[in-house]
Formats: sequence, C-alpha cells, structure tokens
Amino acid sequence: MEAKKLQPISSSLHGTISVPGDKSISHRAVMFGSIAGGVTTVENFLPGEDCLSTIACFRKLGVTIRQDGTRVTVNGAGLEGLQEPDGILDVGNSGTTIRLMMGILAGRPFHSVLIGDHSIGKRPMTRVTNPLKSMGASISGRKGAEFTPLSITGGNLEGIEYKLPVASAQVKSAILLAGIQAKGDTTVVEPEKTRDHTERMIRMFGGEVRTDGNAITVHGGQTLTGTHVNVPGDISSAAFFLAAGAIVRDSRIELKNVGLNPTRTGIIDVLCEMGADLSIKEYEESSSEPAGDMVIQTSDLKGTIIEGELIPRLIDEIPIIALLATQAEGKTIIKDAAELKVKETNRIDTVVNELAKLGARIEATEDGMVIHGKTSLHGGTVSSHGDHRIGMMLAVASLITSDTTHLENSEAVAVSYPSFFDHLNSLK
Ligand code: S3P
Repeated sequence: MEAKKLQPISSSLHGTISVPGDKSISHRAVMFGSIAGGVTTVENFLPGEDCLSTIACFRKLGVTIRQDGTRVTVNGAGLEGLQEPDGILDVGNSGTTIRLMMGILAGRPFHSVLIGDHSIGKRPMTRVTNPLKSMGASISGRKGAEFTPLSITGGNLEGIEYKLPVASAQVKSAILLAGIQAKGDTTVVEPEKTRDHTERMIRMFGGEVRTDGNAITVHGGQTLTGTHVNVPGDISSAAFFLAAGAIVRDSRIELKNVGLNPTRTGIIDVLCEMGADLSIKEYEESSSEPAGDMVIQTSDLKGTIIEGELIPRLIDEIPIIALLATQAEGKTIIKDAAELKVKETNRIDTVVNELAKLGARIEATEDGMVIHGKTSLHGGTVSSHGDHRIGMMLAVASLITSDTTHLENSEAVAVSYPSFFDHLNSLK
C-alpha cells in the first residue's frame, strides 16, 4: 500500500470525539461470554481487527457469536461446551487473544493449534506457557513453546501459586482463566499492579475472585453466567487525542465516555505532571468499569520522569508520551519499561527511530528512552512498522511538522482504531 500523505495542520483542532470501545474489555467480553452459560450482550464493542480475531477464534471453538458493528451477542457455550476446533486458531496481530485463550484452552481436554501474524511470531510466550504447563497443560511450540505456532492439549489442571516474573495483565489473566478450571485455588502475585479487567469481569459474570495487595486468588470449578457488558471508550485510543489537543496550538478537544479504570489512567497522571490543561468529569459509577468525559486544551508542557509502578498503568501510551515529550520544555526520562521491547514491535527502537526521522532529540536506553524538548519537528517518510500505536503516534506528530509527512503502513491503525483517521480529520 502507498504511504499516506499527511499535511501539517494549518489551524487548530476543535470538536468532540467518542473514542471506540476499550480493546482489553472488548476481548474479555467475548471470551467470558463464550465460556459462560447463557447469553451475553456487548454494547460499544470495538470492531477493530484484534477483537475480530477473538470472535473468529471462539467461533472456531463452536460458540455462536453475532456481531453487528459495535453490538455483539454471544450464545455462551460454557467451558464444557467449547469444542475442539477443526482448523487452526489464527489470532492475527493480537497478543491478548493468544495469551488469554491459552489460559482458557489449558483447561479444555482437546487439542488446538494457535498461530498469528509475523509480529505474533516474535512475541514471547513461555511467560504464559510455563505456568500453564506447571498447572498440567500439555503445550509445545517453537523454541520450547516460546514462539508460535503453539499446540495445546489441556485438562486436569491443578491450582498453583505463581509469582509473575513480569508485570503483565495478559499473563495474569491467562493463569486466572486456567485457575477457574483447576483443582483447588490459584494465586497470582504481581510485581506491580496491572490492568484488572479480568478480575472485574469474573465478578460481573457471577464468579469469585479475591485480591490481597498484589495477590489475586480464584478457586477452581467456577461456572460463569452470561450478562450485559457496556464497554467504555478506550483510554489508550483517547490518549492520541489528548496528546493532539495538548500540542496543537489553540486547540480544544472533548472526549466522551472514556474508561477511567485506575489501572489504566497513568497517562492522566503524566499529562497532569507535565502541566497539561486537562479536565475530567467522572460519571457516577453505573457499571463495573468507571468512565467519564474529558476536555484537553493546548498546554505548555514540561518534561517529567516516568518509572516504577506507573509503567504498567500507561504501557501502551509510551509511544504517544514520547511525542508529547518532544514538545515539553526540558528532559523526559522513561525507565523500567523494558517490556516495550516485546510489544507489537520493539517500541523502544521504533519510537526512537521514527521520531528521530522527524527531528526529535530522543535516545534509546536499556529500559526506556530519554527525550529532550522542546523540538520543532520536520516532515519525512516514517513507518508504523505494522504497529497500530506507532502509526497513530506518527499521524499525530504529522500535525505539527513543518512540512509533509509520508506514513508507511498506515493501515495498521485498524488493529485497535479503524475510524482513527476519520476522527482526526473531523477535528480539523
Ligand atoms: C493487555 C495487557 C498489556 C497491554 C496490551 C493489552 C490486556 O500487555 O500492553 O495492549 O488486554 O491484558 P501485557 O500484559 O503484555 O503487559
């Protein structure tokens, strides 16, 4: 596909956006709906490529799922009703699909084979396959089940107590999903708190989960019951407009119905720390996931340090934070973020290399990056490298470049935000 030609904005950004449904919650709504008994209805589902991969995989496991845009109805099969697929399960680009599904399949007494795209083929899987094997699942794959294709035969699991070596919601979720099918209790201890959508969803579907500090416990043999899930807007998608509103002159953008789960709001903490003109109105709690409206206006930003427990709360926002930092006075340091190396791309390298092509003063470090602001960016040819969040970050950067930016592989944005360019253009 030809590179997308992006012109710098000549004026300001104004308007209101309802960002699409949260990706993490949309995946889980389909998965929990599938393993629950009865009907689950999902409202404001994200019809992005990743979540459509989840639907396709569960259909192959025998679940009847109707999807009509942002409305999804799942005729839950119950865990016992899932069937051995007669073909390969293809997760596309979706790490959440493959890792959480491994947790579900670990408890099922049949054989499945999972593959994904080129990027999935490079992402580490022993972080999931090792604990699932120690619970009793039989799993093999390339390089000792580190890489896809993975093959799994599950059943007869024993509960475990497992200390996560990395702060990962996907790994935690996989073990909990296996744990609800195992004998006895399963406890996962996180080094730092990660997004807790799985725990919230177990409760929403009538299951039980106990949390004690960073330890999360489920008991085996749970049955879940279908429910209605209203998915809030994705704060990780909103982040691109929060950044655009802050860095494009004389702008004001309103964002409606954005998820405000505290395990995901690190971007808000960072924007406030950097001095952004951001206001938030949280809705009265009406569902299991908090949400609210936000207004961002052009802001004078200053550099900051991002590290420690904040990292898992904004891990997917680091590419756009790097762009914000190029427009902030002083130095921004991002550390403790080595996990970025194993995302859809090595996001330390792709962020640093692509932003440097536009004139950013940015350096990679072992576990993050250092950005020196404030820098005027110029145009150039850049690439998403097939990574949706890199593509959207570069499109926002192109608003403030001095001349045209050519964005290669711009179609990658459809993984999490198919209407991204339409929404961006509606603000101009
Ligand atoms: C996700 C968890 C995070 C995040 C990903 C979605 C989830 O990954 O980066 O985009 O839905 O659980 P890790 O668990 O690998 O940190």
